[in-house]
Amino acid sequence: MIADHSGRPLADLYSLAGKRAVVTGGAKGIGAATATRLVESGAEVVIADLDESGAATLATELSARFGRRTAAVAVDIADTASIERAADFCVRTLGGLDIWVNNAGIYPTTGPAIDATDDFIDRLLTVNVRGTYAGAREAAKRMTNGGVIINLASTTGFRAAPGISAYVTSKHAVVGITKALAVEFGPRDIRVVGVAPGPIDTPGVQEQMAPLKAAGLDVAAVMSRTLLGRGGQADDIARVITFLATDMAAWIHGDVVVADAGSLAG
Ligand SMILES: NC(=O)c1ccc[n+]([C@@H]2O[C@H](COP(=O)([O-])OP(=O)(O)OC[C@H]3O[C@@H](n4cnc5c(N)ncnc54)[C@H](O)[C@@H]3O)[C@@H](O)[C@H]2O)c1
Repeated sequence: MIADHSGRPLADLYSLAGKRAVVTGGAKGIGAATATRLVESGAEVVIADLDESGAATLATELSARFGRRTAAVAVDIADTASIERAADFCVRTLGGLDIWVNNAGIYPTTGPAIDATDDFIDRLLTVNVRGTYAGAREAAKRMTNGGVIINLASTTGFRAAPGISAYVTSKHAVVGITKALAVEFGPRDIRVVGVAPGPIDTPGVQEQMAPLKAAGLDVAAVMSRTLLGRGGQADDIARVITFLATDMAAWIHGDVVVADAGSLAG
């Protein structure tokens, strides 16, 4: 006989009803898909983005579609005061904070590492590393009844690639933040987990690929070279993030889940 430790039905374990979430970088790409799935799963969501009007448009759409409270707030994760304001906004507007998705990030191409300037490295690390750390810290301060913090790492947080050394460095740090903060936040009943996507078709990736596309590269064909024979979509990652936010993932803590259709496998 299989021991049922909680006695809770599966539908309840999958549900995010009553949870209050913030998704940084939620106006588009993986963040927008994540906000959508979180709301569908029952959560009330604050979409926080540099692009406040994009965030507001999505919040209005989701609220009409699912009949749940959603809101939008401007945030620049490179500015800690702005992260604090976004976290406070969630507590004020939704009455608390249970889930924080550290999704916002940037991935400008570094070019040869030997030419990387300190300004470039500072900017990238400030957004991707300090922004993630500060997001987790400010969220944890406001999670008065436990919670979940989900960090967007990358397969480049495990395996390097040429031309993107600063990004690779930043995503290795996100893996480190996930472990380090799991040690400290676990005793506060706050799970800290990461997701490491392989290449996913998002507005940011399209923008980055534009020069290669203009030079004749079949970007769609390159993106679909996975072991599953198709390219990754934002919702492929949103589903993993949503799962990690639920109590189905109650025993996942301090780990980074790779979601890459096998790209690290071979
Ligand atoms: N798309 C991929 O292939 C891929 C792969 C691995 C990891 N990731 C990670 O997933 C996350 C999302 O990637 P995406 O491809 O959906 O990105 P995207 O560029 O398509 O969208 C990013 C969103 O974040 C917002 N944003 C950017 N800088 C911000 C800041 N300083 N403060 C607040 N918001 C900001 C943007 O306005 C935008 O809405 C990033 O952390 C990225 O590193 C993406």
